Amino acid sequence: MNTAYLNGKYMPIEQAKISPLDRGFLFGDSVYEVVPSYAGKLVGFMPHLQRMNGGLEAIGISTGWSEKQWLDLCLKLIQENGAGNLGIYLQISRGTYESRAHRFPDKVTPTIFAFCFEIAAAPVADKTLAKTYKVSTARDIRWDRRDIKSTSLLGNVLHYQQGIEQGNQETLLYNEHNELTEASSCNAFIVKNGTVITPLLDHQKLPGITRQILIDVLRNDGKIPIEERVVSMEEVAEADEVWITSSSREIAPVIAIDSVPVGNGQVGDIWLAAQTLFSANRFNY
Ligand code: PDD
Repeated sequence: MNTAYLNGKYMPIEQAKISPLDRGFLFGDSVYEVVPSYAGKLVGFMPHLQRMNGGLEAIGISTGWSEKQWLDLCLKLIQENGAGNLGIYLQISRGTYESRAHRFPDKVTPTIFAFCFEIAAAPVADKTLAKTYKVSTARDIRWDRRDIKSTSLLGNVLHYQQGIEQGNQETLLYNEHNELTEASSCNAFIVKNGTVITPLLDHQKLPGITRQILIDVLRNDGKIPIEERVVSMEEVAEADEVWITSSSREIAPVIAIDSVPVGNGQVGDIWLAAQTLFSANRFNY
């Protein structure tokens, strides 16, 4: 599994080369997307594409690509790489320019790069099989446009690494008001007294596609109340359940925060209900 796409050509990933003057490399001047797929079926292609196009527009990059071109690229990569459990990574930088200057160059062609990587099989709604997470917490040090899925991920990388060095697998982040934002590579949810609660979207959080699908399936089902609102870190500490969500993990139960068990320290019933709904509907998006 190693066929990548770069600027119009498919090739073994080792042969995919870009200039060190590419603005994605020099400035992190690029956006990316990760679309999950299982046995050749994409999850959330349209919302992923919409978010990517929104990011491109926000930073003034125009590829001129149609929805069909992006879909064909994803499907071709799946075909070339064997339709297993694949994350399809798409990255568009402003392009390579002859000199290093902060201002946008007048004439530059965006660099378009894509490849696949293996992801875990789609999670199943079974408490005994759930991959559980222990997490750290930290004051969110990232920039103020976290809604753009930018490759400028140093803040995310440092936060993630902090969790690892503390013996955990992720880091939950909070802002200057002690309010939950998200995690370094996931969105975050809490459950209290049977209600699912997640922070409202703003510039401090990535509008996660897994988050969007989860909220939608819960609302359509209508049995479990769901609220989007400010979530304080005190509420996180007192939650019955905490979850983190991302394209490659779907809904992952958090069983300890800073070494303190969440609720009873076990995977919760509401997680089971939510993952059951998500599993039944993932290919409808
Ligand atoms: N991470 N928040 C952040 C900071 C993220 O990096 C991600 C995804 C999410 C969840 O978004 P989604 O549900 O659309 O995957 C939230 C990806 C997978 C990554 O960087 O690899």
